[in-house]
Amino acid sequence: MVVRVGVLGCGMIAQLAHLPGLRALGELFELVAVCDSARDLAEHASAVHGNPAVYESFDMMLKAERLDAVVILNRDHFAPALTALEHGVHTLAEKPLCYTLREAEALVAASQRSGARLMVGYMKRHDPDVRRGLTEIGTMAAPHLARVHLHVGPDYGNWIIPELQAVRRTAGVPNVQDDQGRRAKVLAELGDLPDPVFTAYMEMFGVWSHDINLLRAAFPQEPTSVSASIDSSGTTLTALLSYPQDLQVVFEGTSSRQYRFEESLTVWGSEQTVAIEVSNPFLRNLPSTVRIHENGSGPGRPAAVTRTLQGSYQDAFTKQLEHFHRCVTDPSVAPLTSGEDACQDIRLMQRIIRSVSG
Ligand SMILES: NC(=O)c1ccc[n+]([C@@H]2O[C@H](COP(=O)([O-])OP(=O)(O)OC[C@H]3O[C@@H](n4cnc5c(N)ncnc54)[C@H](O)[C@@H]3O)[C@@H](O)[C@H]2O)c1
Repeated sequence: MVVRVGVLGCGMIAQLAHLPGLRALGELFELVAVCDSARDLAEHASAVHGNPAVYESFDMMLKAERLDAVVILNRDHFAPALTALEHGVHTLAEKPLCYTLREAEALVAASQRSGARLMVGYMKRHDPDVRRGLTEIGTMAAPHLARVHLHVGPDYGNWIIPELQAVRRTAGVPNVQDDQGRRAKVLAELGDLPDPVFTAYMEMFGVWSHDINLLRAAFPQEPTSVSASIDSSGTTLTALLSYPQDLQVVFEGTSSRQYRFEESLTVWGSEQTVAIEVSNPFLRNLPSTVRIHENGSGPGRPAAVTRTLQGSYQDAFTKQLEHFHRCVTDPSVAPLTSGEDACQDIRLMQRIIRSVSG
């Protein structure tokens, strides 16, 4: 079945990843309509991607078009996702699903009421090499230490990607994102937060949320204790998490002005170390790398050996869309990155931020 899809938000990530992905999967999706409150961006997206209908209002798009699904690529996904789900329209929303747990839970409830699928855009979970790494971690003996590490430079560290320089920006007044509204919602849920802690919250719900999701994919259980601290600006955070069965996790995230992108999950077990180095997702076909260090076999004192798995050149965003198509067309396939899963991420991210000691 070809899924009739509408896209909300024709900004950076739509232009770089989702619109090209939907067009490339023409046997799975028909791009019926695009919507951006900046009309010139929607018109540009339409002109580049096969002339789908153009809208400035999401509600108008939903009303006028018979859509099976929407891909939500603005910054605040709650209101459009709720409307779509209430109308029974399957929804893929970029990360973070929402900035508060209350809103994310409301979306999960709306999806359950209408039966429309809700999937969250943690595309790294669809990267075939990341999946192989997670499988290795899932079978390793006695994991006792893990480290989640990320360093994100300006423009997501994507300075080397020519397409990023070519992203079309509106010639009109840019849609001022509702920073104050977002802040008010977060503070209403968490209580008052000093500025650097609020900054750390927003960093956490930005790129770092991918890695919380990855950590939870490896270790879904709740930590027994969490303790975090941040720098004076809130753009660097370290957290120590203790898990049942004697697992200790170190989370380290920083957003800096150094042009560099590093993202990895390393787990040490009794027999092996598994290190997943996640590739820069904007370099479309750059594979992620999994390194497994282990003792060699044989008599005596076996030497350590390293195996490297790096098998796939498939783009994670495209794999994500293929999975979304399966979820929409086959009721037996549940989203790998579901709304419920995103709620668990939000619980853990909030727990880390609440534990910040200064
Ligand atoms: N998966 C990833 O690695 C990744 C990377 C970057 C961004 N993202 C996520 O993608 C989303 C979009 O990020 P971006 O960098 O493309 O943002 P952007 O600002 O470049 O694009 C957002 C677009 O949405 C439009 N818009 C905003 N509110 C709207 C509304 N109510 N109705 C119609 N149009 C509206 C804006 O005009 C803008 O063109 C964010 O949620 C972000 O977290 C994910």
